[in-house]
Amino acid sequence: MRIDRYLQLNTEYSLRQVRTLLLDGQVCIDDRVVRDPAREVSRFAKVVCDGIVLNDSRPCYLMLYKPGGVVSATEHPEHTTVIDLIPESYRQDLHIAGRLDLNTTGLLILTNDGHWSRRITQPESKVAKVYRVETAQPVVDEAEAVFQQGIYFRYENLTTLPAGLERISPRVSRLTLYEGRYHQVKRMFGYFANEVTALHRESVGGLVLDPGLEPGEHRHLTEEEIGLF
Ligand code: URA
Repeated sequence: MRIDRYLQLNTEYSLRQVRTLLLDGQVCIDDRVVRDPAREVSRFAKVVCDGIVLNDSRPCYLMLYKPGGVVSATEHPEHTTVIDLIPESYRQDLHIAGRLDLNTTGLLILTNDGHWSRRITQPESKVAKVYRVETAQPVVDEAEAVFQQGIYFRYENLTTLPAGLERISPRVSRLTLYEGRYHQVKRMFGYFANEVTALHRESVGGLVLDPGLEPGEHRHLTEEEIGLF
């Protein structure tokens, strides 16, 4: 957004007053005086107008080891939310990039950078999500080919994208999805009347859950990890 419009929206000054403040050198973006009313302001810029700091938020990128029984939401009337697991000092404005069901465990990504998270969640990105799946029954031989072909979901009237299945043992598999439909893993195994008894997300697009994290713990992503998306 242009700085003049930004200041008009975020202060009590009129557009004419904003222009005067700009000309008088009373506006700084990231500690530099800005006089051009058309200068663009980015989401995380520090904006100071007439000595008042209007925006000084820093981008935040976290991985959380989501435990079971914690809801992937920012607020919930009964359950602990994933946001409750993050210190108050930096939980402000965080959102979830790809939710997990209540009892699903594993890698959850949280950020306040909507441009970045869209690259993970928008369907066109086709980011690989890898799940470790435990099932009540042994996985049948044909599952690999059926998952590769796609399964028709009547509710959405679509066929799932080709998914990779690796069988680790008769009741434990690793499934790679390139989309994120509602309860997708459970519904795919449900096609074979096979109940998912445990579900754990190991990675998202090359970002692997840190083996040093315990359930409920989080850490900031490194520059390299942020650069994966
Ligand atoms: N698919 C599911 O069924 N549940 C999840 O939490 C994630 C993917």
